[in-house]
Amino acid sequence: MKKLVLTALALVALQAPIAPAQSNDIPHLQKKDGHFALIVDGKPFLVLGGQINNSSAWPATLPAAWSAAEAMHVNTVEAPVYWEQMEPTKGSFDFSSVDLLVDQARQFHLHLVLLWFGTWKNGQNHYVPEWIKSDPKTYPREENAYGKLLDVMSPTSQANLDADKTAFAALMRHVKSIDAAQHTVIMVQVENESGSVGSVRDFSPAAQQAFDGQVPAELARTLHVPDGTWTQSFGPDADESFAAYSTAHYIGQVAAAGKAEYPLPMYCNVWFAYPVHALENRDRPSAGQEYPSGGPQQANIPIWKAAAPSIDILAPDFYSDDFTLFRTIVATYRRADNPLFIPESQLGPNFGRYFFYALGNGAIGFSPFGIDRTAQATQPADPVPAPADLPLPNARVSINPAENFALFNAPDSAIAQLNLQGDLFTAVEERGSARQTVHLPTADAVVSFGFPQPDGAYPPGTPTFQGRAMVAQLGPLDFLVTGFNASVRFTLPAAELAKTPNRQIEILRAEEGQYVDGVWQTTRILNGDQTDRGLNFRSGTPPLVRILLHTLPLYDEAVHHKTE
Ligand code: DGJ
Repeated sequence: MKKLVLTALALVALQAPIAPAQSNDIPHLQKKDGHFALIVDGKPFLVLGGQINNSSAWPATLPAAWSAAEAMHVNTVEAPVYWEQMEPTKGSFDFSSVDLLVDQARQFHLHLVLLWFGTWKNGQNHYVPEWIKSDPKTYPREENAYGKLLDVMSPTSQANLDADKTAFAALMRHVKSIDAAQHTVIMVQVENESGSVGSVRDFSPAAQQAFDGQVPAELARTLHVPDGTWTQSFGPDADESFAAYSTAHYIGQVAAAGKAEYPLPMYCNVWFAYPVHALENRDRPSAGQEYPSGGPQQANIPIWKAAAPSIDILAPDFYSDDFTLFRTIVATYRRADNPLFIPESQLGPNFGRYFFYALGNGAIGFSPFGIDRTAQATQPADPVPAPADLPLPNARVSINPAENFALFNAPDSAIAQLNLQGDLFTAVEERGSARQTVHLPTADAVVSFGFPQPDGAYPPGTPTFQGRAMVAQLGPLDFLVTGFNASVRFTLPAAELAKTPNRQIEILRAEEGQYVDGVWQTTRILNGDQTDRGLNFRSGTPPLVRILLHTLPLYDEAVHHKTE
């Protein structure tokens, strides 16, 4: 009976409507009390993503991609659409790759984030069609300060912009025509790691003329810089600010043209400015050398927000083992005007800690890069199966449970809902902090990393700092808990105990279970050794546990006073 009551309470908490959304609503972003969710088919959706390699969206390589996606338990695959393949000659469009992606994603019950490899790819013009690359007079390139033509398209060129807008609008029109009812495609990345590699800004004559002109008055007002030329308004940052404005303004117009056809959420991924460690006397990385100048890097966020309002998210790609840097980047891109989304990260030992940390910071999604591990330009080992033979592949990719989303794939909607409500918290192990306290509104969760945990001893931590835990608040003293290499126990917050010392907290019930179609189902009740020293989550695929606590007096005051 108690279980029924508990389950019913949980359902109320997890299924409370968050918006008067219809299930046929186009995927969109929702903001509530400062928290974000991506809404798909009327419900919050957590993107458990996997990005395939750059050259994998082809019939020959997609089977390995779907196999890897299954092995990783992703719910969404991020896959490129190549401008050069989609528009091989001006104005003639070939959507066969898009159709293949959408058809096969549906066979595997996966969503898609389409990556528009258009004018920019890693700060260069790799995926621009040949008819554009070979005609730099019509479609101008950026020039560096010495007049060298770069393999970067000039963002001040109307011809370049018009060509990209036309192609991207055609893509979005096509996506609408095949997917408006099914919502397989839930989000679109506009360009890839934009900005210029090779120069701080475009020095071509047309760009120079714009640089010598006035900063748009609206931009100067929004950024609280003085009116004037770029040099007058931005001083030493003039070159990079000009590059950021030109790039953002261009991409904002591309996105707007696409949204006019089919307004899916759109984001730009970021090759951000990594700290320079090479030389002691260089205190900052240099734009156009260490990172593509004018992209949505940390310092350029305000310019991008002002100049590209049709871009919903600036989303950092994260490629570093430096967890402190990850925290800084999360803090930089998690803003009131910017949902946190990590569209690329390394796949490997840091997957789990970064994913948990992002989740605890309200991320709407997280996606490692290169999940299909087909980066090498080799022939596939096995005969290529025809799409008609899907679903296939026999060759299973083996992925460590600690590096996959198995635990979160079924409760993804519940987790996204909890995040939208601001009720989800995580703790991630760091060097020197094998024990951490997560302060929840009604209780503290004390998380200890590493095993064994002998009584009375400080927890040992893990050799590579991989411990992590999640605690989500379902009701006043009702929590959903999981983790890797961690134990979790609950105490009353010190501040509350100081006010009312005669209180203690104890477990009423701990249920191990899972979500099936969004409904919590208990597998077993945990007690005895499984709860005596907190909830224990070792390695392997950990369980999900719902724990209901209550408080009671530490001692009965009436009896206590009588016996004194
Ligand atoms: C970041 C890019 O956005 C991806 O497309 C890919 O090139 C990775 N870098 C490779 O590390």
